[in-house]
Amino acid sequence: MSEPRKILVTSALPYANGPIHLGHMLEYIQTDMWVRFQKHRGNQCIYVCADDAHGSAIMLRAEKEGITPEQLIANVQAAHSADFAEFLVDFDNFHSTHSEENRELSSQIYTRLRDAGHIDTRSITQYFDPEKKMFLADRFIKGTCPKCGTDDQYGDNCEKCGATYAPTDLKNPKSAISGATPVLKDSQHFFFKLPDFQQMLQTWTRSGTLQEAVANKIAEWLDAGLQQWDISRDAPYFGFEIPGEPGKYFYVWLDAPIGYMASFKNLCDRTPDLDFDAFWAKDSTAELYHFIGKDIVNFHALFWPAMLEGSGYRKPTGIAVHGYLTVNGQKMSKSRGTFIKARTYLDHLSPEYLRYYYASKLGRGVDDLDLNLEDFVQKVNSDLVGKVVNIASRCAGFIHKGNAGIMVAENAAPELTEAFLTAAPGIADAYEARDFARAMREIMGLADRANAWIADKAPWSLNKQEGKEAEVQAICATGVNLFRQLVIFLKPVLPLLAADAEAFLNVAPLTWNDHATLLVNHQLNAFKPLMTRIDPVKVQAMTDASKEDLIASQTDTGASAPAGNGELAKDPLSPEIDFDAFAAVDLRVALILKAEAVEGADKLLRLTLDLGGEQRNVFSGIKSAYPDPSKLDGRLTMMIANLKPRKMKFGISEGMVMAAGPGGEEIYLLSPDSGAKPGQRIK
Ligand code: 2FM
Ligand code: ZN
Repeated sequence: MSEPRKILVTSALPYANGPIHLGHMLEYIQTDMWVRFQKHRGNQCIYVCADDAHGSAIMLRAEKEGITPEQLIANVQAAHSADFAEFLVDFDNFHSTHSEENRELSSQIYTRLRDAGHIDTRSITQYFDPEKKMFLADRFIKGTCPKCGTDDQYGDNCEKCGATYAPTDLKNPKSAISGATPVLKDSQHFFFKLPDFQQMLQTWTRSGTLQEAVANKIAEWLDAGLQQWDISRDAPYFGFEIPGEPGKYFYVWLDAPIGYMASFKNLCDRTPDLDFDAFWAKDSTAELYHFIGKDIVNFHALFWPAMLEGSGYRKPTGIAVHGYLTVNGQKMSKSRGTFIKARTYLDHLSPEYLRYYYASKLGRGVDDLDLNLEDFVQKVNSDLVGKVVNIASRCAGFIHKGNAGIMVAENAAPELTEAFLTAAPGIADAYEARDFARAMREIMGLADRANAWIADKAPWSLNKQEGKEAEVQAICATGVNLFRQLVIFLKPVLPLLAADAEAFLNVAPLTWNDHATLLVNHQLNAFKPLMTRIDPVKVQAMTDASKEDLIASQTDTGASAPAGNGELAKDPLSPEIDFDAFAAVDLRVALILKAEAVEGADKLLRLTLDLGGEQRNVFSGIKSAYPDPSKLDGRLTMMIANLKPRKMKFGISEGMVMAAGPGGEEIYLLSPDSGAKPGQRIK
């Protein structure tokens, strides 16, 4: 038996400014399955993560919500942790980059890089918002595309014609934060001298650390020559101040990967026998893997190994890169209801359905993965319910009825049992290589063979014949043993199913090596259904609820912008409109005749409004602030009366009422002064 491996694993740190969605979950589920596989095999495998809590986007978002960044990140961390736990993503530690450990490690790494001569400083000229008194990142500047003349384009590229340019090329630039015209201003910046590490990176990126497609992409960047990397930002910024440089902060991407170390450090500090240096010292023999999406390869395969090398730490053993998630063949879309938050999924469906579906489609490559919702229902129902669970449910009853739940010792299918045993190393190799799809194919191939064998033996027919009792018992005991093997192989993907199966099998938690043994003369517990089929109605309800989330976020102040990309929500300030556009909006005083909850909608109220003789039905996403809607009855508010009617799941919404506030309990319906009459136009 070889020594257990020591392995440290991370997933990318989610930004602390918004909810986790199914695109994020692809990575966390992938990583969790790999980690569980390693633990299942008896290796010491530690999985850490954290919220990525720094940067302008988080600072501005907190400001907009009227809370401190610390409050924002605490709220988001609680929500993220709950989502991960329910998806059975079992971190050994989930920390935050806004932590003491991270401050210390970031300072230490920076100081070591500086003292070794890897930091440069020089002045750069950038757009500055004179009202907000802050430098503006490219995404916070909007203007007219210099190439095609389209208005309202970001400072780095045009969404219309695809041109890329410098923010100073934009015509008529405006700050997306305050709307002010930015001015050019100089400031001293700090740069990490990445070119110092060209040689090392050339070797490291070709040493088996990366998938081939990723290594090829990196080679293009290396061939083009590396640039120095700007690692500082000026105040105001939410992050860590650079040691000895008041008013200068580390750019969020400098301290984000150090957050991996910091989370591990935090775990070591409260875990006896877990030694930080054993995993991070230059001569460490432990393995270190980072699971990431393909959009952040440069940070992990260039900047990060160079930072580690330059500050005397070990480099990663491997970077596991995955592609993006599409839903029904397209980018996730809010209006189609396919931008599905983790929470919305969990409100309707079991986490293991998605874990299995992702596993069945995740190969080693960096291709995008499509969650086709019809295929999802079909595959889960057919494989897990129809094949795996079916074996146990076909056999358990006969053992309970015919032999008081005791599995006899006789093996009725030695060859098939042997085939399961022989398949194990190949399945393990597939898991190890992160080729979950291959592992699932092989496991389902075995499940097919087991089902075909049981169908052929037909214990349900034999059971009706005299003198066949022993044969029935041997077949069913063998069937349950084959089921047990499948559960062992699937446990990294389906930990809940495995726990329920262990309860039925009346065994201690199964480990990988248990596949080599069989249960003989063994007492089973009662069989309870281990998994139910996915009802397509629930999938529909989930996409409807995702559309409803969208409507709710449009009906409130728009504060619940999507997150996950670290950018400020698009249009933090609405673009200017001309007077004609304003005049076209028919704003009216409305009397709320009746406000009521909508059955099946978490966030909506149905408002019956009187517009001075005309009645309107309006759905509004304000329920979280008005748990007792009847309190709104008889109150005046303001509405947009000429909004095109929208067909919603619950009926047609004929306008929109006006409310302010960040969301949740803090939504404030607007009201006119007393004396205003329903139907009066607001001018
Ligand atoms: O792209 C992102 O969502 C980043 N928050 C990932 C950070 S990963 C690591 F480097 F911290
Ligand atoms: Zn353009």
